[in-house]
Amino acid sequence: MEIFRDFNLKPFNTFHVPARAARMARFKNVEELRALLNDPELKGLPRLVLGGGSNVLFTQDWPGVVLLNEIGGMELLLETDEAVIVRAGAGMVWHNFVSYCVDQGWGGVENLSLIPGRVGAAPMQNIGAYGVEIKEPFHHLEALRISDGEVVRFDTQACRFGYRESFFKREGKGQYIILSVAFQLKKHPQLHTHYGSIKAELDKRGITAPTIRDVSEAVIAIRRSKLPNPEVLGNAGSFFKNPVVPAEVAERIKAEHPDLSSYPAGDGQVKLAAGWLIEKAGWKGFREGNIGVHKDQALVLVNYGGGTGNEVYALSTRVLESVKEKFGVELEREVNIV
Ligand code: FAD
Ligand code: EPU
Repeated sequence: MEIFRDFNLKPFNTFHVPARAARMARFKNVEELRALLNDPELKGLPRLVLGGGSNVLFTQDWPGVVLLNEIGGMELLLETDEAVIVRAGAGMVWHNFVSYCVDQGWGGVENLSLIPGRVGAAPMQNIGAYGVEIKEPFHHLEALRISDGEVVRFDTQACRFGYRESFFKREGKGQYIILSVAFQLKKHPQLHTHYGSIKAELDKRGITAPTIRDVSEAVIAIRRSKLPNPEVLGNAGSFFKNPVVPAEVAERIKAEHPDLSSYPAGDGQVKLAAGWLIEKAGWKGFREGNIGVHKDQALVLVNYGGGTGNEVYALSTRVLESVKEKFGVELEREVNIV
């Protein structure tokens, strides 16, 4: 396996900000990964695993080794009349996995169509969209424990999934490298079309009895109309999480702003739309030099080209502080800051 030195990471992050890695190597299976972890040139260096680079912001050069996950392949672990359990290599492009499942008529991941990135990063933040999170179709994953090189299996409970959270983003951070993820998918699924814009898109298409493919295509159309394509405009999707606050906080804001966008989150908590808060704080469409806040979706920070990670980060701090000052609500960054 080739080890690259002073490697250019700009094409490997969807913000397209400049950054270099002291070392970079690719792995296609667990044996190659183990060999890299034991390589004398790389041993002891800080490690960063990268999939599609669609949820990271580089604010500095990486002083250690970037390990690019290219573990491919899919395997059917179990098939019954009702369901399948299918395992995908962590380096597989997420949307290719979703498309394959849709083609087979396996339901469970269609609402997560077109999310950028690789399969292995999906459990990291329990990716979610249009009413579904991966914790629902998730069955188990296998990860390499860096401390002893053992392959460990995690079920749903062990992953401790939360909203854009998991064990791997919190307590387990930097300790495991995800190798494969298995999903339990249904042949006759209950489709999730309750999310407002899916219903509207299906109505627009005159579809009353949608199939798995119809839902996938509706989600793709909605995403294309709402979110900037990172190949054209650098971004990492939502930069912040939608804040979950006590119902009283939402009521207080609503008293002054009846159009507040919010959703019940259980246990007397309410999820507020961060995009709404940022827009009302006056940031939507803001541009300074080469970076800014997207003109149609205020939750997405963008690099028009030539912007740096530090500039994006500094802008995120200004947005965060102004939302705190205007609404008394603390936003939390969703993107992984490196
Ligand atoms: P990377 O950016 O490469 O890595 C993300 C983090 O995971 C890093 O900390 C990295 O070190 C770690 N990591 C990656 N792979 C592994 C591994 N195998 N083992 C251990 N750690 C690993 N997300 C959503 O949830 N919902 C959305 O709707 C959504 N929409 C998006 C739209 C756009 C336009 C963009 C650009 C992003 C969007 N995202 C969304 C965010 C992003 O697509 C997801 O977080 C995705 O799962 C990231 O995958 P990746 O392979 O690019 O991860
Ligand atoms: N809104 C505004 N102004 C804006 C943007 C949004 O008022 O500039 C309002 C919208 O009108 C709507 C509400 O905010 O009432 C929610 O907006 P949207 O449906 O676009 O979703 P979101 O909350 O901004 C979340 C996820 C996305 C996911 C979509 C669809 C988070 C942090 N983001 O965005 O995930 O694709 O819902 O389910 O939960 C990501 O994580 O990177 C991501 C893109």
